[in-house]
Amino acid sequence: DTPLRDLAAAKGKVIGTAVTGTRLTGTYGDLAGAQFGSLTPGNAMKWGTVEPARGTFDWTEADRVVAFAQAHGQQVRGHTLVWHSQNPSWLTTGSWTPAQLSGLLQNHISTEVGRYKGRIAAWDVVNEPFAEDGTYRSTLWSDALGPGYIANALTWAHAADPDAELYINDYNVEGVNAKSNALYDLVRSLKQQGVPIDGVGLQAHLVLGQVPPTLRQNIQRFADLGVDVAITELDVRMQLPADSAKLAGQAADFKSVVAACAAVTRCVGVTVWGFTDADSWVPDTFPGYGAATPYDENYRPKPAYQGIAQAL
Ligand code: XIL
Repeated sequence: DTPLRDLAAAKGKVIGTAVTGTRLTGTYGDLAGAQFGSLTPGNAMKWGTVEPARGTFDWTEADRVVAFAQAHGQQVRGHTLVWHSQNPSWLTTGSWTPAQLSGLLQNHISTEVGRYKGRIAAWDVVNEPFAEDGTYRSTLWSDALGPGYIANALTWAHAADPDAELYINDYNVEGVNAKSNALYDLVRSLKQQGVPIDGVGLQAHLVLGQVPPTLRQNIQRFADLGVDVAITELDVRMQLPADSAKLAGQAADFKSVVAACAAVTRCVGVTVWGFTDADSWVPDTFPGYGAATPYDENYRPKPAYQGIAQAL
């Protein structure tokens, strides 16, 4: 079979996967390198990973993913610079003034983006800034700095690597709804103000049978604003145990998501959040659910793999 990355490239798209850097050997490494044109470190670039103690950095896993990608002719999506989760404890428990927090954030962005300058195709600069009703999520950042932290983060990232594509990434923004409307309004306003924003990431952590019917329309409206769109974290979870009917439905869901991206010129590609059920966050996070990726736990392609291939 033609590797997914070659099918995607023939359509001008990129198919990617989240990876765990420490696993990039053996069958896992072979498949990650052969099938995918882009890698996203699942955890390795998060602030809590790279700066566990203040001023003490650990780039081991992030460096490994970037080096693997370079060796395999792959892009890297940097993930993620500003988030409310997986921050170091010294940051969240510290009693910082807003001015100090702003300085820490600027320094973090400059350091991390600068380290990988020229080697990251796109950064998820800001992750999950919105609440479900379309208001700004209450976070360490928004509480102390107000929503202006988003424009600042993008501006600092652009200064550190002017060639990287800069994204805002969120979940439950795949269809047209209150949350994606808020993201839309933010992107329009940032562009009007000349803030460097290049794309929106639709995470797409989906439940079997629940691909939003307005996905393509939603991708198109962002494209029409003048930004790229990426599906950044696709998985389709099902209640366990899996069976052949569920796996067939999952294949249809993967196919329809990839097809929606393929139908819009400015949709750059689709990243799956783990390519094997052996390396998925779903069972740990959604008890009773799993089997959310295109390969099973023994690295055998599932019907979902064929679903992706058929849409490319
Ligand atoms: C998840 C990782 O996959 C897990 O290993 C970790 O324990 C928690 O975070 N949205 C995101 C990702 O943007 O960073 C999250 O990744 C999944 C949800």
